[in-house]
Amino acid sequence: MLEVTGLEVAYGRAQVLFGVDLAVAAGSLTCVMGRNGVGKTTLLNAVMGVLPPRAGSVSLDGRDITRLPTHERVRLGMGYVPQGHETFGQLTVAENLRVTWEACGGKDRSAIDEALDVFPRLRPLLRRRAGFLSGGQQQQLAIARALVTRPRMLILDEPTEGIQPSIVTEIEDVIELLNRERGLAVLLVEQYLDFAMRLADRFTVLDAGTVVYEGEGSRLQDEGVRQLLAV
Ligand SMILES: Nc1ncnc2c1ncn2[C@@H]1O[C@H](COP(=O)(O)OP(=O)(O)O)[C@@H](O)[C@H]1O
Ligand SMILES: [Mg+2]
Repeated sequence: MLEVTGLEVAYGRAQVLFGVDLAVAAGSLTCVMGRNGVGKTTLLNAVMGVLPPRAGSVSLDGRDITRLPTHERVRLGMGYVPQGHETFGQLTVAENLRVTWEACGGKDRSAIDEALDVFPRLRPLLRRRAGFLSGGQQQQLAIARALVTRPRMLILDEPTEGIQPSIVTEIEDVIELLNRERGLAVLLVEQYLDFAMRLADRFTVLDAGTVVYEGEGSRLQDEGVRQLLAV
């Protein structure tokens, strides 16, 4: 479904990605791993069109989207939950969802209800400002906001980072539901190995901006690969 080929990204003179290949099959869950600073967030930002690549291509369903702006990618079915569970802190939970829903065309109001069905704990908080939510609640809101656009593929950057364990389990259950029961393809950046191992069917490990492992989870426990993870 998603195919990234030979991706190179630089910040000014500092090149960060060096010919990265990545594939996410329809209905699958691919996890990108690697230590801090290896280029995981940069990769997702390039996949979403937030950063322009210097070389390489990104395609969705066989269509080249390398030059497409982010909002067009969202319209094609890519939902993005950036690192750091950013929400609009001054807006209420309901407003956070509505603003995103309106920005992406806002035709079918049931999209908001469906997103809330996935996170029922957000319902009693609808009138609370997002800035007053806990980190875990903000992450749930950030995922719900991406769901309001009715994506076919969900892209999540370290959804468990800095979040209390009880909510990590809830987020894991939601990602599992969306992937296994609703058939969403998922591209997940995750450093929490147990969480990633339970969810993902394919793994890509980055080191210093290049892919150093691609395959199933079985070999992730190998010493050589393990050293490249943050664990
Ligand atoms: N906006 C930026 N400007 C310059 N360098 C950046 C910027 N964002 C990230 N970097 C650098 O790019 C490298 C990869 O960062 P990042 O993609 O955030 O890694 P990861 O998500 O794997 O921790 C790091 O060396 C980081 O310092
Ligand atoms: Mg990152």
